[in-house]
Amino acid sequence: MENSSLPVLAIGSDHAGFPLKSALARWLRAAGYELHDFGVHAPERCDYPDYAHKVCRAVEEGAARFGILVCGTGIGMSMAANRHPAIRCALVSEPLSAEFARAHNDANVVAMGSRMIGEEMGIAILKTFLATAYEGGRHDQRLAKLSPPTC
Ligand code: RB5
Repeated sequence: MENSSLPVLAIGSDHAGFPLKSALARWLRAAGYELHDFGVHAPERCDYPDYAHKVCRAVEEGAARFGILVCGTGIGMSMAANRHPAIRCALVSEPLSAEFARAHNDANVVAMGSRMIGEEMGIAILKTFLATAYEGGRHDQRLAKLSPPTC
């Protein structure tokens, strides 16, 4: 059953990320998260940016608080996600990076590689990512400088 005190999430993957995405989606739903699953819904060959953009749009528009992206390595998904000005996507493969991505970088999207990590590691990353708050303070001015100045 969904727990309305938990943040709403958006998730997406390409064909390579499909196995890990499916496992993460199952775990998140069992843990009570409301989840918008933007696909893929079967491991058919596709282009990862299409799914990165769907998930990032949901976060930008406020339909989801956080996004989760999975491809083979997580690299392509994170590249596509970080083209969105309001998205701070962190590619992580262990929980400590997930913790710093939230605490220092206020990451609102996390990317993972289905060919790089297993299901247990993916769940451990999500648990940490979702449990860690942004620290603010000295990090605010650094985040404000992420967008290059206009010339
Ligand atoms: C698909 O083969 C693979 O290139 C993709 O999932 C991803 O790893 C790209 O960064």
